[in-house]
Amino acid sequence: MNNRMITTEFTEEDSRIESSLRPKYLEDYIGQEKVKNNLKIFIEAAKQRQEALDHVLLYGPPGLGKTTLASIVANEMKVNLKVTSGPAIEKPGELAAILNSLSEHDVLFIDEIHRLNRQVEEVLYPAMEDFAIDVLIGKGAGARSIRLELPHFTLIGATTRAGMLTAPLRDRFGVVNRLEFYGIEELTEILERSAYVLGICLDNGGAEEIAKRSRGTPRLANRLLKRVRDFAEVEYQGEITYEVARNALNRLEVDTLGLDETDRNLLKTMIVKFDGKPVGLDTLAAAIGEDAGTIEDVYEPYLIKNGFMNRTPRGRVVTELSYRHLGLEAFMSREE
Ligand SMILES: Nc1ncnc2c1ncn2[C@@H]1O[C@H](COP(=O)(O)OP(=O)(O)O)[C@@H](O)[C@H]1O
Ligand SMILES: [Mg+2]
Repeated sequence: MNNRMITTEFTEEDSRIESSLRPKYLEDYIGQEKVKNNLKIFIEAAKQRQEALDHVLLYGPPGLGKTTLASIVANEMKVNLKVTSGPAIEKPGELAAILNSLSEHDVLFIDEIHRLNRQVEEVLYPAMEDFAIDVLIGKGAGARSIRLELPHFTLIGATTRAGMLTAPLRDRFGVVNRLEFYGIEELTEILERSAYVLGICLDNGGAEEIAKRSRGTPRLANRLLKRVRDFAEVEYQGEITYEVARNALNRLEVDTLGLDETDRNLLKTMIVKFDGKPVGLDTLAAAIGEDAGTIEDVYEPYLIKNGFMNRTPRGRVVTELSYRHLGLEAFMSREE
């Protein structure tokens, strides 16, 4: 999974370039117009009233710009950003300490917020609602709880799995935004911006070809850009044109619709092994040796969005497009 070229999860390699490529203000953030307009208004209103921005929940597949948006919100509000994640906070006291370290109107970003444990989550409720936490002092019979006031802060929670949030937590977010996959034009624009920032020679045809194979995901687009640059430098004169991008991406086995070996294997398994009949998520996961959660969060959203498969009450089913894309039309007639 970690070696997968087109993984949209964050990798070590990404961390080196992402900070330089991350847009810092809303106006550099390309696409996601609905989310952007929404946030723009709330940010403006909060600034006018000199209040903290309402708590924001961002959800959607990995690599679409959730972390980026959180830091943009902090920049636009001109406040500090504190970053942590669900699994990193193990005890209620750790969260209390983080909350207590914030200043008025600061942004606290909790990535993978669906992975907060129950006790920690319960500290978050009064913190979000009343900007206060109850701290237990002492032990046994003499223990008493005192209320600690917190600065008015903004919680930004990010998750790839909105369905896994508990209702009380979800209800405490005033602003809930879902990030969508990016279109080819938007990705092209993102790639051209990245190429400019990194000093890479990229023409429009080259940008478009990389965009097409980036699964609607900026993180992947940026990663492919760097890989293609290596090809361009070693085997061509350095400039990334349509030709160069196409050849490089073919060599990387990312196909013309952005699918890689794992995607193709998943679809092929559904067609060949399960005869194109509906198959349950766990069964499918076992058949291809992948984790069910990874299939659900990482592979499937893109495949469904682009019409390769569907989720039905009876299980996952492949569509005609998959048969055609994989050249497995012969298997279609078997169903009749
Ligand atoms: N709207 C955007 N415009 C330009 N670049 C973007 C945009 N969204 C994401 N990126 C790029 O993609 C990378 C991954 O985004 P990130 O915010 O880390 O995704 P997520 O947190 O949703 O997994 C960022 O480093 C940034 O360079
Ligand atoms: Mg992130």
